[in-house]
Amino acid sequence: MTDIQTSYPPSAEFAAVANGDAALYARAAADREAFWAEQANRLHWHEPWTQVLDWSGAPVAKWFVDGKLNVAYNCVDRHVLAGHGDQVAIHWEGEPGDSRDITYAELLAEVSRAANHLAALGLHAGDRVAIYMPMVPEAIVSMLACARLGLTHSVVFAAFSASALRSRIDDAQARLVITTDGQWRRGQAVSLKAAVDEALADGQASTVEHVLVVRRTGIETPWTDGRDQWWHETVAHASAEHVADAFDAEHPLYILYTSGTTGKPKGIVHTTGGYLTQAAYTHHYVFDHKPGQDVYWCTADIGWVTGHSYIVYGPLANRATEVVYEGTPNFPDEHRHWNIVEKYGVTVYYTAPTLVRTFMKWGREIPDAHDLSSIRLLGSVGEPINPEAWRWYREVIGAGAAPIVDTWWQTETGAIMMSPLPGVTAAKPGAAMKPLPGITAKVVDDKGVSVDPGETEANGYLVLDQPWPSMLRGIWGDPERFRETYWAMFADRGWYFAGDGAKVDADGDTWVLGRVDDVMNVSGHRISTAEVEHALVGHAGVAEAAVVGVSDETTGQAIAAFVILQSGVDYPSEQIVAELKATVSQEISPIAKPRDITVVPELPKTRSGKIMRRLLRDIAEGRTLGDTSTLVDPKVFDALRP
Ligand code: WT7
Repeated sequence: MTDIQTSYPPSAEFAAVANGDAALYARAAADREAFWAEQANRLHWHEPWTQVLDWSGAPVAKWFVDGKLNVAYNCVDRHVLAGHGDQVAIHWEGEPGDSRDITYAELLAEVSRAANHLAALGLHAGDRVAIYMPMVPEAIVSMLACARLGLTHSVVFAAFSASALRSRIDDAQARLVITTDGQWRRGQAVSLKAAVDEALADGQASTVEHVLVVRRTGIETPWTDGRDQWWHETVAHASAEHVADAFDAEHPLYILYTSGTTGKPKGIVHTTGGYLTQAAYTHHYVFDHKPGQDVYWCTADIGWVTGHSYIVYGPLANRATEVVYEGTPNFPDEHRHWNIVEKYGVTVYYTAPTLVRTFMKWGREIPDAHDLSSIRLLGSVGEPINPEAWRWYREVIGAGAAPIVDTWWQTETGAIMMSPLPGVTAAKPGAAMKPLPGITAKVVDDKGVSVDPGETEANGYLVLDQPWPSMLRGIWGDPERFRETYWAMFADRGWYFAGDGAKVDADGDTWVLGRVDDVMNVSGHRISTAEVEHALVGHAGVAEAAVVGVSDETTGQAIAAFVILQSGVDYPSEQIVAELKATVSQEISPIAKPRDITVVPELPKTRSGKIMRRLLRDIAEGRTLGDTSTLVDPKVFDALRP
């Protein structure tokens, strides 16, 4: 049997304790709206909805119409009111080795203080707040405080540059930035507030009125009186009592910027009721969550959607006890994650394939030196997981017994859409398997015709043919781009185009194969080719640049760039390559830094002037060239090959 055919049935032992409920599929198929209403009822609604779904304004859905709720109340207050105030919500591990346990009662006090202070700053429901912070508890408190007040947060990954921060602040017109003085990076305190200052000091007035700063590292911090405030001098002294108002189910909860096929990131908008319903539903079933028993750990960062849905909103809505870790997996050494698993008795561990492959490279003797027997369920997200990594993950981390949930979803979908259900459905190494109950998907060709199961040659496009509760409601400020990007491809059918290629095997299970657009996936992070090209041509020595994603053993894809220098530029190539890598790190983030940069005399183009990325990918991966017949000048390759 090949890898692909091996199927792992749900273990009988596991099924006995699972939330797993095979009848879920049938219930959802029989009456989808009633099913979602049932799921929404795991939340507290201040006012009930009058209609489950209004799709009359397609492609913008309204879920739980007229319903009112408060996300922070659902994630914190109600657990305290139900008598669970002493349960630990967050076992926080700082990178340097400091740690803090935060109970639900303490979380309520902190969120209330922060909410009181943000209100005192004059912020009102609907205003936007940028959060630019490492993985400290105050980052989660800030998100919840915004949610509590109906402020729409925009979390910007703390490894993004000042210019990336500024463009997100401007696009969302944020009135407040919450940040830290600095962040720990493998034992070094590096500044972060300085990047906020740089972002705001570009000569043009910004919408930002205040910068609220958490002291994390004690690093020396530049200060603008009147604008800047210390968290410990303000929030810490605010009242710990705050009564939460209810907001409309369609109130915008957050904006999260993600890469598309152009250089400008898209502000994906998520709302309140449907989003929280699906985040909580999926966290409950996919991770088979047992409140008060499980110790759950999602290793993502709040700078990405995984952190929003599976560190903050889903788990806390379900009264999870979770680990939040500030640092890298190899600080102070490669044992860090397993020390944390042992310390807290982690039962559910959710990470990305790139990290699994990194662990594989470090060697199994490292996890083998630890007692990981508390782990009973493993999760994977961010890219297709290769069967070899899947097996290693199950064998070495899951003691050969833990089911793996391979969860397919996107920033745009807000929550998990496809995954095996532990204890209910089978799993195959590398397959996302089937849509969850309540979700439907199809794999189709470019005309919208379903690809036959078992058809291995023709790979199709993954589409979502019905609205789902946590779906994006738009791109901030750009309804046209929203339609164009997701709904134009199958406009006549009203399907959402996910941008992923997929196939369906003979059992009817879905395999997601990767992006079919100009979006790369590096370590589970989405980066657009256009964004990196834009940064490269920003260098004075570069005339033209083309960027492609190529396979990489650890990161899934790596970035390969081809650049043409300005005529007359006479640089040694090592020097320009080093400068260009630095430029991209500076302009976007170190995660977008190309692995390879090749200086070339020409780029392969079609007669209409389009760069043939497919051919560049062939070159970068050392393959024989595909069809070159549409090229203006096929001879261009003689100069391109290494
Ligand atoms: C893209 C979305 C969802 C949170 C992390 C990434 C790829 C994600 C899987 C999976 C195959 C996957 C897709 C998708 N992807 N999970 N389990 N199997 N591919 O969120 O940055 O919005 O990226 O990640 O290509 O479109 P994102």
